[in-house]
Amino acid sequence: MNLPIADHKWSVKTVVVPAAGMGTRFLPATKTVPKELLPVVDTPGIEVIASEAAALGASKMIIVTAPKKQGVLAHFDPYPELEALLEERGKSAQLEKVRRAPNLIEAIPVTQERPLGLGHAVSLAEAELHDDEDVVAVMLPDDLVLPQGVMETMAKARESVGGSVLCACEVPREEVSNYGVFEVEPVDDPATPGLKKVIGMVEKPAVEDAPSNYVATGRYLLDREIFDALRKITPGAGGELQLTDAIAMLIDKGHPVHIVVHDGARHDLGNPGGYIRACVDFALRDPQYGPGLRRYLTARLSQED
Ligand code: UTP
Repeated sequence: MNLPIADHKWSVKTVVVPAAGMGTRFLPATKTVPKELLPVVDTPGIEVIASEAAALGASKMIIVTAPKKQGVLAHFDPYPELEALLEERGKSAQLEKVRRAPNLIEAIPVTQERPLGLGHAVSLAEAELHDDEDVVAVMLPDDLVLPQGVMETMAKARESVGGSVLCACEVPREEVSNYGVFEVEPVDDPATPGLKKVIGMVEKPAVEDAPSNYVATGRYLLDREIFDALRKITPGAGGELQLTDAIAMLIDKGHPVHIVVHDGARHDLGNPGGYIRACVDFALRDPQYGPGLRRYLTARLSQED
């Protein structure tokens, strides 16, 4: 499918979802099950991301996976035998759930043969872009940013400031070394509270070297120029090709880069602690499971251990 760019609300046709990481923080579950397929209540994380991409108005989702993680793609295939069985048995709610993922967005597979880093994973998407695409969205499936809609805020900001717009969260100082950290300047734009100009970016700095408490948050709107930078970077933190280093290169060249500071929740589905919180958060809002879970948690928390 190649819809013209004008058919896309925010001129974003493609969302790149890098999902080729090894998921070592979630072993042993991720020995055979890709972390992107672990359910948040009943829906795999990758489908939650796909619905966010579709809500942004994108029509293609490039999923970058490892050779042994092809099941992530299979979640977006139709399953006619199961659909026929559910239809025959009158299970219409379940049928609707099975059909949801394939109908959300066109999922396009790209294989990253070896985990050479997030920057490398993103660079592989270039071959799948159409000529009319000036910007590409990158959404990390480990990161749930709630409430959904931050990508629209970023796209709106991009209409006024151009260049690349990224999402940031403010974290306590002692946590900055886990993230890509921004060096920022204020911007006077009453239309976008939380908008800041980025003048530098560094991956996983020591606490004393971190230029701010604003950290990269798994949502990026990147000018197509990013692919030139990705071709030039060399292995950085952890010996991997880092997206952060390519963004830092764009900034050094004078390319406008801004952040929107997200004022809401963020869950890291890539480790059990963050994943459990995401499940609790989603389940508490679920009409079927929420009321019972709330009663259980209230009673459970009043016990000693
Ligand atoms: P992470 O470092 O959080 O994911 O990468 P990981 O490598 O799976 O984590 P560990 O092993 O538990 O530490 C951030 C995102 O980049 C993707 C990951 O799948 C994740 O979505 N990624 C990372 C790739 O696609 N390829 C890579 O080579 C590295």
